[in-house]
Amino acid sequence: MPGTFYITTPLYYVNAPPHLGGMYTTIVADTIARYKRMMGFDVKLLCGTDEHGQKIERSAKTQGISPKALADRVYTQYSDLWKAIGIEYDEFIRTTEPRHYKAVAEMYTRAKANGYVYKGSYSGWYCVSCEAYASESDPDTPVDCPDCGRKTEWFSEESYFFKLSAFQDRLLELYEKKPHFIRPESRRNEIASFVRGGLKDLSISRATLKWGIPLPDDPSHVVYVWFDALAGYLSGIGFRSDDARFSKYWPAVHLVGKDILRFHAVYWPAFLMAAGLEVPASVFGHGWWLFKDEKMSKSRGNTFDPYVLNEVLGSELLRYFCLREMVFGQDCNFAVESVIQRYNSDLANDLGNLLSRTTAMISKYRGGRVPAPGEAKGDADVRELAGRVIESYRKHFDDYSFSRALENVWELIARVNKYIVENEPWAIAEKPAEAKKLDSVLFHAAESLRLIAGLLAPVVPKTAQNLWEQLGLEDKVSGIRLDEIRWTQELAGRAIRGGASLFPRLDPKEVLKKIDSVNERKSDSNVGTPENLPATNVAPQITIDDFSKVDLRVATVVEAERVKGADKLLRLLVDLGFERRQILAGIALAYQPESLIGRKVVIVANLQPRKLRGLESNGMIVAASIGPEDKPVLVGFHEDVQNGARLK
Ligand code: MSP
Repeated sequence: MPGTFYITTPLYYVNAPPHLGGMYTTIVADTIARYKRMMGFDVKLLCGTDEHGQKIERSAKTQGISPKALADRVYTQYSDLWKAIGIEYDEFIRTTEPRHYKAVAEMYTRAKANGYVYKGSYSGWYCVSCEAYASESDPDTPVDCPDCGRKTEWFSEESYFFKLSAFQDRLLELYEKKPHFIRPESRRNEIASFVRGGLKDLSISRATLKWGIPLPDDPSHVVYVWFDALAGYLSGIGFRSDDARFSKYWPAVHLVGKDILRFHAVYWPAFLMAAGLEVPASVFGHGWWLFKDEKMSKSRGNTFDPYVLNEVLGSELLRYFCLREMVFGQDCNFAVESVIQRYNSDLANDLGNLLSRTTAMISKYRGGRVPAPGEAKGDADVRELAGRVIESYRKHFDDYSFSRALENVWELIARVNKYIVENEPWAIAEKPAEAKKLDSVLFHAAESLRLIAGLLAPVVPKTAQNLWEQLGLEDKVSGIRLDEIRWTQELAGRAIRGGASLFPRLDPKEVLKKIDSVNERKSDSNVGTPENLPATNVAPQITIDDFSKVDLRVATVVEAERVKGADKLLRLLVDLGFERRQILAGIALAYQPESLIGRKVVIVANLQPRKLRGLESNGMIVAASIGPEDKPVLVGFHEDVQNGARLK
């Protein structure tokens, strides 16, 4: 009898809006949760936001708002996104909630009472972006963060320490005894060798930071953000607020990106052991989404906005692509072109065709009712393959090999499409002597689709439900049990419903255009759009401080070319003296690219990067806009001006 199953996503930092990397883990967690529910488990899926720490405090300061206001805003963006892409979480924890404070205080108090916390002083280089200690070498030798490569900052202050060093043997024993505690195996080996290399005690409090949970016994310190956030996995399921619930569901399966595996597979079990609590059931460290072989991240500006992707591509396609394209555990390149290719080949061609030809033939040849099976070439083959696919799908799903599980389902789809072609139903439809054969083809195709709908339900829930309903089935496909699913005759005699084509083909050019225009609309509405004001109206007054936020610089164009497929866009490379950067400018109708080389221009140098046609634009060229067509005219100088000079 299946029992309980508790699964978590990371708690996302609220310094910036969601991006593709975070969306991925959440889609996978939701898929697993749905699968486990359909396997009969009593499932809880926890999502959440990590709202304290230096990184958030700083980000809020730059934006001129309080950390809590920033957290509230980004929390809403996350919860809206999860709804939009069909994430059915059972619990959501924000680390600023009182129930979480209680849990953190309890963890700290228990660890201290058990002798694992002591007071000392910490000096070392700290990476604010990773919220992690990088090195303790001397203050005159700055180090870059070993994880993300960014500059670190020197901190020297009184601090409470966690005796991580005391857990080396117990952690190694844990990895040894529970070989699946860390997955995939390659990462387990990396973590084990990191621990074997020796563990240093960890500073778990900060005296110079305000934005955090005060230590219960010394409120002049706040808890280190990782000690705080990891406890969200406990507070989110009732630790210290509903202990019965907590005991029922804990321990959890954690899904995280490989960059934060160490926190989950080393620090976290040690914190739990110190507090006398059970360690997690397992921790899976998945790979990264890359763009042109580089990790996608906000700071590199090479990521995609999940809201835009969802608006243009839809959540079902995103979910399918994420699960099918990336081998869970490995890195994978993301490109809109590959998403569309997957859509057109797997969804439109293979699955969409199978459904539409099956329902169309049942309507045309059998008055819309699924016939009872007769006998056709390949019947047994299809049935046998369906059985095998169900088995291996479950095996791969249990093993977190989602792409393999989906490959299996598509093997069945391809086989049934081939089986239909081999039996040529359109040719035998007119021959009464072949009626049984036609019956069999129609039945086998419909029954295969019923099974396929069930198997796809965890990954693409809306599509699966649509398939289900087109076959004339009632209730929810998510209500069936995947541990019991098998080939049956239950469709025989049932009236199908049919419906619109599930996946009309997509034109990659059109999709890219749409992404650009949604991106543009979004960034226009973000910036507040002076260009939308009537020409005679001057924009509302600002202060000199407001103006000084805009960093206008002189630069020289060193490269200029048209952007394929975009009539208005030029890709420019400009030299700022201290750096070169790529800018996309909508001036192609007014300027020939060759005429711009060597020209001095003015750019907005501190504009958030954005993507157009898959290319990053790192700033904006300043131009006057004239006439009803808004013809751009570039700003220039009469005197010679050095690159990099600021306009103020
Ligand atoms: N707040 C911490 C987690 C605390 S959990 C108790 C944190 N937050 S995060 O917002 O920076 O990152 C969340 C997750 O996004 C991490 O698992 C990280 O691996 C993942 N990703 C960020 N960029 C990614 C890709 N390009 N690809 C896939 N996932 C990546 O860390």
